[in-house]
Amino acid sequence: IVPEYDGTRPFFFKYRDYFLTMEHLERMKDVPSFEVREDDIWIVAFPKSGTTWIQEIVYLVMNNADTTKALQTTIDRRVPFFEFRMPGFKAISSLPSPRFIKSHLALSLLPDQMETKKPKTIYIYRNPKDIVVSYYSFFVKFLTYTKFTGNFEDFCRLFTEDKVHNGPWWKHVTEAWARRHDDNFLLLCYEDLQADLDKNVRIVAEFLGKSLTDEQVARIVKHCSFDSMKNNDTVNYEWLKDRGIARGETSFFRSGKVGDWKNHLSPDIVKRLDEIVATKLPEDFPVKDTLSM
Ligand code: A3P
Repeated sequence: IVPEYDGTRPFFFKYRDYFLTMEHLERMKDVPSFEVREDDIWIVAFPKSGTTWIQEIVYLVMNNADTTKALQTTIDRRVPFFEFRMPGFKAISSLPSPRFIKSHLALSLLPDQMETKKPKTIYIYRNPKDIVVSYYSFFVKFLTYTKFTGNFEDFCRLFTEDKVHNGPWWKHVTEAWARRHDDNFLLLCYEDLQADLDKNVRIVAEFLGKSLTDEQVARIVKHCSFDSMKNNDTVNYEWLKDRGIARGETSFFRSGKVGDWKNHLSPDIVKRLDEIVATKLPEDFPVKDTLSM
C-alpha cells in the first residue's frame, strides 16, 4: 500500500492498483470475505457515471414500477453503498434477499465470492470528460469532508494522473469491458441511457428476468428523468445537507447532460483525456463524449 500526498488533499492510498481514501482503505480488509448471495443484484460504477440512475431503475424494475413504494425510503437505504461506513458490512449482511448493493470499487476489488456465487451485476460507464467535471462538483463542492484545497484544473490533472478516489478510471472500465459477455453481467453506458431511456429500462428488466408492461416501463422512464430525480428527495441526496455531509448551495444533480465538459475543460485536460482513451482503453471500447456520437 503506497501513500501518495501532493499537498492538495488528505492522504490517498494505492491499494491493488486503485486509489482509495484512508477512510475506505480501512474497511478493505473486510471486503474479500464478505458473503455474497446468488440472488444479490450488484450495481457497480466508477463515481459520477450514473450509479444513482441505475440504482433507482433497478429498484423500480424489481418492484414492478411501484414508484409510491420507492418514494417512501431514501435510495441509500433501498440500495446501500457497499464500502461506505453507513450502513456498513454488518448491516448489509443481515438484509433480506434479494439485496440490491451499490459499489464504486473496481470489479477486481469486490468480495472473493463474486466469482463463485455469480450474482447479477450491472455496470454503467460514462465518458471521462463529463465524469471529471461532475466529480469535481461532487467531491470538492458538494461534499464537506473531502478537504481538497486545489482548484478545478488541479483536480482534472489528478484525474488524468489516475490519482482520484477509485481511479484509474480507464482500468476500472476496462475490467468491466472484459466481463461484458458474461451471463451474469450487464454493461450499460450513461450516454445510451440519455439517448433512449425506455430501451435501457427494458434491457435492465430483461437482464433481471422481470417482465414489465409498457405502462410500467413508461412510469419508470418518467420517474427517472433528470428533472424528476433532481426534485425527488429520496434520490437527490439533499438529506446529506442536514447531516453536515453536503453543502447547502450545491446540488448532487448538477447538469445531467452529455458534452457539458465543453463548457468547463481546458484544452490541455481534453488532450490528456483523449490520450487516455486512445492509448489505455481496449481499441473497440466505445466512449461517447458528445451527443452526436
Ligand atoms: P452531472 O454532475 O453531470 O449532472 P453518480 O450517481 O454515479 O454519482 O452520477 C451522478 C451523475 O449522473 C450526475 O451528473 C447526475 O446529474 C447524473 N444523473 C443522475 N441521474 C440522472 C438522470 N436521471 N438523468 C441524467 N443524468 C443523471
